[in-house]
Amino acid sequence: MREPVLREIDGRAFQRGLNGLLGVYVAAMSPPEAQLPGRLAIMHRHASYPGFRAFVYERRRAFGATPVGFIYGFHGAVGQWWHDVVNRELSTRAGYEHARSWLGDAYEVAELHVHPDYQGRGLGRTLLTTLCAERGERTVVLSTLERHPETPAKQLYRSVGFHDLLSAFEFPGGGPPYAVMGARLPLARVNEPASR
Ligand SMILES: CC(C)(COP(=O)(O)OP(=O)(O)OC[C@H]1O[C@@H](n2cnc3c(N)ncnc32)[C@H](O)[C@@H]1OP(=O)(O)O)[C@@H](O)C(=O)NCCC(=O)NCCS
Repeated sequence: MREPVLREIDGRAFQRGLNGLLGVYVAAMSPPEAQLPGRLAIMHRHASYPGFRAFVYERRRAFGATPVGFIYGFHGAVGQWWHDVVNRELSTRAGYEHARSWLGDAYEVAELHVHPDYQGRGLGRTLLTTLCAERGERTVVLSTLERHPETPAKQLYRSVGFHDLLSAFEFPGGGPPYAVMGARLPLARVNEPASR
């Protein structure tokens, strides 16, 4: 199998390629089909947020390229749904200053997915470290499903310095519990134990 190639795409290319990226998301996460139009609309909107950057791994063939993994993020800001919900909860649980130290100048990783056929080959780690490299923000934050045993995603995040800011957090509107995780930038060297 030819090795997938990594490239950065801008917001417009991201929006044009959303159906292919959603295919990777579906293969990786198996979400309920009813959620897909909403997810598509959210991802489309995210592409216009400040500091938006996206990287995609593609399998290239004579007739074109198929995405097999992607990541994107943007600069967190007041008025964004995720930012405001997490800021409120973190302030309530740990105080305003604590929330501000994590969210006051934060890069938000919104989605990271690798197609199951390509998992376990280092693509996810490269996507994450590439997106976070050279960011000027103080921190990087994200949310991830809370499961027992711990998910591969959570293990990946821990390995580069993320730790839990909120555990067992249920976002408004229902759904499963999430962990909100954060790391100081620059990320810890790959495979270094997370520093607290
Ligand atoms: C999480 C995900 C993006 C990781 O991508 P990947 O390409 O498979 O991961 P990598 O091969 O780069 O591995 C990076 C690290 O992830 C963790 N990891 C990967 N696969 C794992 C597994 N099967 N079990 C436990 N940990 C695993 C390990 O910490 C690994 O580091 P190591 O190889 O040094 O042990 C991918 O598994 C995925 O898409 N999962 C489903 C969707 C998802 O959960 N997305 C994240 C949403 S927040």
